[in-house]
Amino acid sequence: MSSSSASTMLTTPIKVGRMELLHRIVLAPLTRSRSKLNTLTQTPIHAEYYRQRASKGGLLISEATFISPETVGFQRSPGIFTAEQVESWKQVTQAVHEKGGYIYCQLWHIGRVAHPSFAAHALVKAQAVPTPPGVSASDVPTGLPAVTYDGQTVDGAVPRALETKEIPRLIDDYRHAARCAIEAGFDGVELHGAHGYLIDQFLNDGVNKRTDQYGGSLENRARLLLEVIDALIAELGADRVACRLSPHNNDTYSYNGVKDSNPDAIYGYAIKELSKRKLAYLLLTEPRWDPKFKGDAVTDPGHQLPSVNADKFRSLYEGVLIGAGGYTPLSGLQALELGKYDLIGFGRWFISNPDIVTRIQYRQPLNIYRRETFYIWKSPEPEGIDEGYTDYPTFDQVLRQIGYSEEEVKDLSSRVLSDEEAEQIVARSHDKGLKYPLITQVRLGNSTSAGSRL
Ligand code: FNR
Repeated sequence: MSSSSASTMLTTPIKVGRMELLHRIVLAPLTRSRSKLNTLTQTPIHAEYYRQRASKGGLLISEATFISPETVGFQRSPGIFTAEQVESWKQVTQAVHEKGGYIYCQLWHIGRVAHPSFAAHALVKAQAVPTPPGVSASDVPTGLPAVTYDGQTVDGAVPRALETKEIPRLIDDYRHAARCAIEAGFDGVELHGAHGYLIDQFLNDGVNKRTDQYGGSLENRARLLLEVIDALIAELGADRVACRLSPHNNDTYSYNGVKDSNPDAIYGYAIKELSKRKLAYLLLTEPRWDPKFKGDAVTDPGHQLPSVNADKFRSLYEGVLIGAGGYTPLSGLQALELGKYDLIGFGRWFISNPDIVTRIQYRQPLNIYRRETFYIWKSPEPEGIDEGYTDYPTFDQVLRQIGYSEEEVKDLSSRVLSDEEAEQIVARSHDKGLKYPLITQVRLGNSTSAGSRL
């Protein structure tokens, strides 16, 4: 793969819903647990984080964002259902738009993953008619540990099965959140239908034991997903609605304990139905991002696993398809070139490289991420805690830190680097004790190693 052909695909514009995107790199949704504890609002540091990652014609997807008090089950994830939350998001969307970028809001209901002790959260208690967290398709627990409202790790609780008559209210909660997202300045919404959260709990027959019209057949288990999508379309238009799914199989990681007797059938059905809806995009998770891969970022086994979902499901979906999960810059570019996906979402490497788009375009070395600061939910209030959030430097800042002259910085940060040049920069950085060490893109995986197993 030549760098020039890769760059051509990378910067080929594409229309996605109402957006005119100018390149093919997307910020995957990333929970970072830095919102205000009681109000679940955003702060100026959130605006700065998203501003850093925004680019002209680039799409950012927000961290997963609670749609209602019933889903509040992680500390310090933001919400998009109160007026105060809407106001707090405006600084974020404005910062992204000022740079010519776009931002979608990921709408999140975590269902049974929320421990019922979150009924003590201020926003749950404030409701006139309480809808306490800890609900699901059926009363099947995750079988995994859960974190309580006061931060204790305990066995996951048995969730309360949502009653059939509650489903219209649940769908209204999604509608309300979508309206709030648009009011907050988002360009559209992405329904989080992935990773074992509420929508996925309805899809998977290991969790969904219902006997009403939301359980049993493929059609019934996909009904909630599609009714929510249709409600969002009615609210915003299909060209401002997107969805994320995470097809898995018995050999891959089971997200939050969800299991299905025939995952290809249920996800295939759901994807075919979504295809008819002409959404802005569908984001598929490649099942090679596994929280249990806690080793060194550079040797993450996920990079070496083959991608599977593009091959399985691309032919079932006619619209714009985004892939995310275990991509390195070079394997991502190769997936674009091969037409496996239209866009590639980066998570962890985008956390540590706010300017990842130009880094990929110019084959610049990457800052290595630190897992310890992915989430900061501990007291004190994390306002102003920028470590691991907004303190990852851009490439030109790194060059200055390691002693390049202004003239060299200008040259090295504005053109495609040879592999040798990239290696020299990394070698030079080694003596300087950088807080975030560098790695070349080739060392992370290229067309002859990880990339060949896309
Ligand atoms: C995630 N992921 C994720 N996915 C999602 O749909 N909503 C979310 O809020 C989050 N939150 C989140 C937080 C953190 C710290 C990580 C590492 C991951 C999954 C994410 O979008 C992406 O699919 C994975 O990170 C895999 O992609 P990478 O990191 O291999 O590029």
